[in-house]
Amino acid sequence: MKILMVCLGNICRSPLAEGIMQEKIRERGLEWSVDSAGTGSWHIGEKPDVRSISEARRNGIDITRQRARQFKPADLDQFDLILAMDNSNLRNIQNLITNKEQGKKVHLIMDLAHPGNRTDVPDPYWDDDGFSRVYRMLDTACDKILDGLLQGEIRIPVS
Ligand code: 4NP
Repeated sequence: MKILMVCLGNICRSPLAEGIMQEKIRERGLEWSVDSAGTGSWHIGEKPDVRSISEARRNGIDITRQRARQFKPADLDQFDLILAMDNSNLRNIQNLITNKEQGKKVHLIMDLAHPGNRTDVPDPYWDDDGFSRVYRMLDTACDKILDGLLQGEIRIPVS
């Protein structure tokens, strides 16, 4: 299983999502891989935002080795599950879809965790206090998604 987390800059939300999911996968002894990307190009090559690094560290997760990259159309073929942090990221990814198979892989992270809930993971870039809320949302969502995948409630590709 290859999972890709996607936000706008790939420096705040999706690096946290990558770190959290990777840790849960490691704890469960699975050999799945997780990566992250941004739909925008501003921060390519940069480390995660210092506030994301601190929030992860407070929770025992090291994300300092991550470097931002831009989402590319080939990701739609190379990953099994592509999770957008907000509805705008989701639309940007969906605009690059060229076939039905790719479409089934792309989901809003909160919607996959809590079906019918189309909530955004809010962009914390301009809000220093937003990072702990983002962490909690992603931590709960990643648990739900992993449980769903392992128990067969979420089947890939999701139809
Ligand atoms: P992210 O947050 O999408 O969670 O990484 C942002 C980071 C940078 C910008 C916007 C959002 N920016 O406009 O540079």
